[in-house]
Amino acid sequence: MPLHRLASITIGVPSPEPVRAFYRDFGLAETKPGRFESADGGEQLRVEAAPRRRLLALSIGVDDADDLGRAAAELARLAIPAQRSERALEAVEPATGVRVRLEVGPRLAQKPAPALAFNAPGRTRRENARSPAVLASPPALPRKLSHVVLGSPDAAASRRFFVEGIGFRVSDEVPGMGASFLRCPTDHHNLLVQSGPLPFLHHTAWEMDDVDAVGRAAAAMIGADPSRHVWGLGRHGIGSNFFWYLRDPAGTFAEYTSDLDVIADEEAWQVAAASEAHPLAAWGPPVPRDFLAPEDITAIARGERLACESRA
Ligand SMILES: [Fe+2]
Repeated sequence: MPLHRLASITIGVPSPEPVRAFYRDFGLAETKPGRFESADGGEQLRVEAAPRRRLLALSIGVDDADDLGRAAAELARLAIPAQRSERALEAVEPATGVRVRLEVGPRLAQKPAPALAFNAPGRTRRENARSPAVLASPPALPRKLSHVVLGSPDAAASRRFFVEGIGFRVSDEVPGMGASFLRCPTDHHNLLVQSGPLPFLHHTAWEMDDVDAVGRAAAAMIGADPSRHVWGLGRHGIGSNFFWYLRDPAGTFAEYTSDLDVIADEEAWQVAAASEAHPLAAWGPPVPRDFLAPEDITAIARGERLACESRA
């Protein structure tokens, strides 16, 4: 697959300073003001000022100039303008206004996470020792940006741009939510496009070593400020990943996640096999209503509708 990694994102927020403090606490390293690195992925997050919270830009790694050429041809076929340089291609996704950049760069090689020894009925893997998960240790750090979820007022157009134009593959779909789980290349989803009243960033997700790392990191964030808690701990039905969602000060959800499905052989994977799985969670606390329809976005959409009606 020509696309080999979700490289980085730029988010816009009205008040960057508290958002930057949140992501420092979250475990990302702020190497320059507003620029954050994950443990394995290098610089993966930029926080900039914007009139309202949204995803401004998304960058994807590709292997070589041929990959740029293929995407340029497909975008031209869709009549979407793109700017090409020797090592990059940029285009604006028409339904959300997100600036999408394909950039030639190295693939990401991650060191294997240490495997915890679990005991289970009939299968003892740890004897005469406490689990490392309960011992005091430095806080676990997000290993890489796992995925982003984008609300789009025209989810079909956004899906067409990312799948037909850019080259994402479809892993699963939930037609009732206008949701498409897209990957580049083998993680079940690096990008989820779903219907929304206006363009907005629903959440970013950050890969942790395992479920204990998810639980410990989220517990530390909530211990420092309980109002950060949104939804978790649970395991998603689509993608199979553990999740715990927090809310950043701008209102965007930030997810610690682990154990996402990997699709290494497209022939062996059935798209929409997730019809057997619950679209939201296999288990976990009840989903908060605000998670499905964030109140600030609903209020902005209502305001825009009222403004349109008063002009009419
Ligand atoms: Fe997620």
